[in-house]
Amino acid sequence: MPEIVNTAQSHAWNGPEGVHWAAHQDRWNAVNDGFNAPLLDAARLTATGRVLDIGCGAGRTTRLAARRVPRGSALGLDLSGPMLAEARARAAREGIRNISFVQGDAQTHPFEPGPGGFDAVISRYGAMFFADPAAAFTHLHAAVRPGGRLALICPADPGRNGWVTAMASLRGILPLGDFGRADTPGMFSLADPDHVRRLLTSAGWTAVGVEPVEAYGVWGQDAEDAADFLLATGPGRHLADQAAPADLTRARTALRDHLRAHETADGTGVRLLSTSWLITGERPPSPLSPR
Ligand SMILES: C[S@@+](CC[C@H](N)C(=O)[O-])C[C@H]1O[C@@H](n2cnc3c(N)ncnc32)[C@H](O)[C@@H]1O
Repeated sequence: MPEIVNTAQSHAWNGPEGVHWAAHQDRWNAVNDGFNAPLLDAARLTATGRVLDIGCGAGRTTRLAARRVPRGSALGLDLSGPMLAEARARAAREGIRNISFVQGDAQTHPFEPGPGGFDAVISRYGAMFFADPAAAFTHLHAAVRPGGRLALICPADPGRNGWVTAMASLRGILPLGDFGRADTPGMFSLADPDHVRRLLTSAGWTAVGVEPVEAYGVWGQDAEDAADFLLATGPGRHLADQAAPADLTRARTALRDHLRAHETADGTGVRLLSTSWLITGERPPSPLSPR
């Protein structure tokens, strides 16, 4: 495998975090699927397009992209072996042929130079974890053809994310510290739009856009189920591991009580609103390019 420079992330996503995401892939898609259409529409894929999905995880958006490029191809790239195993199995089950998955680091992966490079690079929540974001977005810029596009979904202001607010209800019970603050690398590393514009512009991207998109995600069938899930995800597990058993019991009860208010009246589950950024950019067309 080519060089992995994001070693801490590789360790996490090949360990418990990747295993959890792979095992609960349907739940994570119920949480995040509301962002698929804005992401894929922004990529402006055409039937013959070549699309690269970075941090593709178990490949939900890679498969959706592949269906939008029936005479083209979709490549999913991820650090995580467990996630990619799930991605390959799901693509095979769905009979998608114009798709492939590669294990590697998007910051450094030596992409095969096809004729002109990828038409689009996309990611749903897979582009916030680079140790050196400037190097990563410069590298990805070189992987797309002149005139090619970038489209990313990344968490916006933590205060406008229902799951962060739910976890914040545990302050005073669990050692939350600076939970939900902008962190680098981490979930909220691209939450500041001015930082994103500067970062992408200096990496060569033009027409940079940072637009808010909102969607509800379903986190569990009821408040009990959603509380257990939230405490089992990476951030929840990290907090739970530090807690005394009595505090953990109190935390679970407090979280369940917070989530009750988000149970739907028709019994379809616990819905939390998330606000994300739809981040877009273009590699400038070359002056000699026919496109
Ligand atoms: C929050 S998950 C999102 C997964 C998937 N895109 C989805 O929407 O379900 C983040 C993913 O990014 C991947 N990732 C993090 N840093 C990466 C890097 N430097 N190169 C490739 N993948 C990376 C992780 O392995 C993980 O699968």
